[in-house]
Amino acid sequence: EIQAFIFDLDGVITDTAKYHYEAWKQLAEELGIHFDLEFNEQLKGIDRMASLEKILSQLSDGGSSFTLEQKQEWADRKNNNYKRLIRTVDESEILPGILELFHDLKQAGIPIGLASASRNAGTLLRQLKVESYINVIADPESVAHGKPAPDIFLKAAEALGVDPRYCVGVEDAEAGVQAIKSAGMFAVGVGDAEILSKADYIVSETSKLSLSEIQHYMTGR
Ligand code: BG6
Ligand code: MG
Repeated sequence: EIQAFIFDLDGVITDTAKYHYEAWKQLAEELGIHFDLEFNEQLKGIDRMASLEKILSQLSDGGSSFTLEQKQEWADRKNNNYKRLIRTVDESEILPGILELFHDLKQAGIPIGLASASRNAGTLLRQLKVESYINVIADPESVAHGKPAPDIFLKAAEALGVDPRYCVGVEDAEAGVQAIKSAGMFAVGVGDAEILSKADYIVSETSKLSLSEIQHYMTGR
């Protein structure tokens, strides 16, 4: 029944969620804005500019006084922090169980799509040496609305030529799970069951992802 798997990248295939956190924290501290792991949870899956807006919205004036140029400069600064942090990422940073799952999917003839909001996704896939497993990469710059809107997941399904109803989406972020559900797909959440409560199936960590388990749950619904 499953005709495609569509994966998020950051926090699912590799633990780059921690580098995004670190890069935003560096910028927030320069701007004198408090930033912690709890606040960061709201930024997972959210694109660069929208993330900056959320951070600035904590200022007393809601960040409304800044020009677009100023905001662009801060977004670039965060991205430079991030690029510095991911420079040494290699295959050793693929999360546990992911290669096994990719392998099982390939064996089962189920194609894989990528639905990441990150403009650094291509670079990371190359550094992780997993490009050959991914059949389709949805370009985040080509969609009108970022997660939690379903656009990027729908784009990946369309490129694979698969009806969203037969797609499984895998996400570590609340906004990502919401995007998968809005796309009409089966949502697999990886992480905290409370945060990801809208997912159809939740595992605490990537090592617990199993194609046969997911198939079982999806057909038994
Ligand atoms: C998502 C991350 O995958 O990509 C977010 O979860 C990030 O934290 C977003 O903001 C955009 O990434 P980038 O690399 O284009 O700034
Ligand atoms: Mg993610």
